[in-house]
Amino acid sequence: METLYALGLGYLLGSVPFGLLLTKAAGLGDVRNIGSGNIGATNVLRTGNKGLAAATLVADLVKGFLPVFLAGQFYQGYGLAEASMGPMAAAALGAVVGHCFPVWLKFKGGKGVATNAGVSFGLGWPIGLAYAIVWLSVLALVRISSVAGMSAVVAAAIAAAAFGYEQFIPVLAVIAGLIIFLHRQNIQRLIAGEEPRVGSKK
Ligand code: G3P
Repeated sequence: METLYALGLGYLLGSVPFGLLLTKAAGLGDVRNIGSGNIGATNVLRTGNKGLAAATLVADLVKGFLPVFLAGQFYQGYGLAEASMGPMAAAALGAVVGHCFPVWLKFKGGKGVATNAGVSFGLGWPIGLAYAIVWLSVLALVRISSVAGMSAVVAAAIAAAAFGYEQFIPVLAVIAGLIIFLHRQNIQRLIAGEEPRVGSKK
């Protein structure tokens, strides 16, 4: 039952479409009508408003971190460290699924990279750190957000194996598979050499 609550909490928080809400509040219209049509920070950046993109990134990250952290704290508070693993994994999956398939947007949401960064920090700081390092390094190297994001989600699952968080490998692997699947149009653009670099407004 705890696992179901955690899944629900993760989904509810994850489904808040910050990129869409912030761009609308700033009077920039519907972010789904520009660039890739995605509601994430990369596409918000294509509005030309860097502050709004940064705010979207932070908000999407926090909404992934919070439910996982809360699930962990709640059950560990009862001296049930092991018992918290299931709810934490469920909150993680709920948050990413909520972001990618929000009921409020007819289940058409984002691609989950920023939310999964928060999720990774919630599951264990070494996983989050590995995620952030790979994400930022690849972004600095190739300046293509989708490549950096897909590298980071795979890195999180590997980091879980490398740093003693084996119990979270399945959920991180499922999330990585989902996020890569949601990047299928980006992958097609990459193959065609048409994927825009960060900073370009395409
Ligand atoms: O986090 C989303 C990113 O990986 C790709 O965004 O807008 O270029 O499809 P976008």
